[in-house]
Amino acid sequence: MTATREVGGLRLAVRAWKQAGLRVALVPTMGALHAGHLDLVRQARAQADRVVMSIFVNPTQFGPNEDLARYPRPLERDLALAAEVGTDLVFNPTVETLYPGPTRLGISIAGMADHLCGASRPGHFNGVLQVVNKLFNLVQPDVAVFGQKDIQQYRLIETMVAEFDHPIRLVRAATVREPDGLALSSRNVYLSAEERAKAPALFRELNRVVAEIGGGGSVSRSIAEAKARLAGDGFKDDYLEVVDYDSLAPVAQVAAGATHIAAVAQYLGTTRLIDNVIFPP
Ligand code: PAJ
Repeated sequence: MTATREVGGLRLAVRAWKQAGLRVALVPTMGALHAGHLDLVRQARAQADRVVMSIFVNPTQFGPNEDLARYPRPLERDLALAAEVGTDLVFNPTVETLYPGPTRLGISIAGMADHLCGASRPGHFNGVLQVVNKLFNLVQPDVAVFGQKDIQQYRLIETMVAEFDHPIRLVRAATVREPDGLALSSRNVYLSAEERAKAPALFRELNRVVAEIGGGGSVSRSIAEAKARLAGDGFKDDYLEVVDYDSLAPVAQVAAGATHIAAVAQYLGTTRLIDNVIFPP
């Protein structure tokens, strides 16, 4: 495996692969790699001949009061893990390389960022799409792999690929979890032992909501009861919503034949945790 911070080195490597007729997959990350990221690389390997992983803590997707400065950046460890799991090239540019000057053009999103994380993190998804669009143009992969863990991000990237005609096939990888159900996240390291013990309640409550409303129960009552139990456990509410998979708009009732997402974001102390379940599966 090689690592490059330079656009030139990245383009050279990818061009050589493509000239040799090899298919290239991209796995974008912000580093602080865990087993969820590594599973994306394994899926990328299965879909392509060469795997590029980007590691870049993208400043434009963090709000002014978010954790940009304290976001973990264990680069040596990340490079070792990436190599171990079969990454061919890591692209880890500096902020100055990706954003050499002020950016004048942005991607605005109609509708699909109005709820869930888009509502509580204004501008977040503009930054995500900005950097993913740049990475798609820099790497020009045949395939790109993203996690279901960030389902709104995935749906927005899917929409960008369709509307901007990126010739890239997207793969949505299932959420990798701890044995007790907690979704793996680079932010789990922020949790105290006590908070870590409470955190699996998120996935439990999502499954309970899905079971209740799948059995004909009221969406709003099920959500209100789940939120009350989480609050009783010491979670601070950001959102718990059931949305339509295509529009990401909240639904009052589940529609037969449609796909839905039960999605949650809650704070434990200052740590914001998210999770979701797609149903019917
Ligand atoms: P990051 O949070 O590092 O996540 C990188 C990728 O790993 C995303 O596609 C995310 O959905 C996936 N992922 C995270 N936790 C996962 C888990 N437990 N199981 C499976 N996949 C998981 O998402 C970002 O970075 C950034 O927004 C990025 C797309 C890189 C743009 O900056």
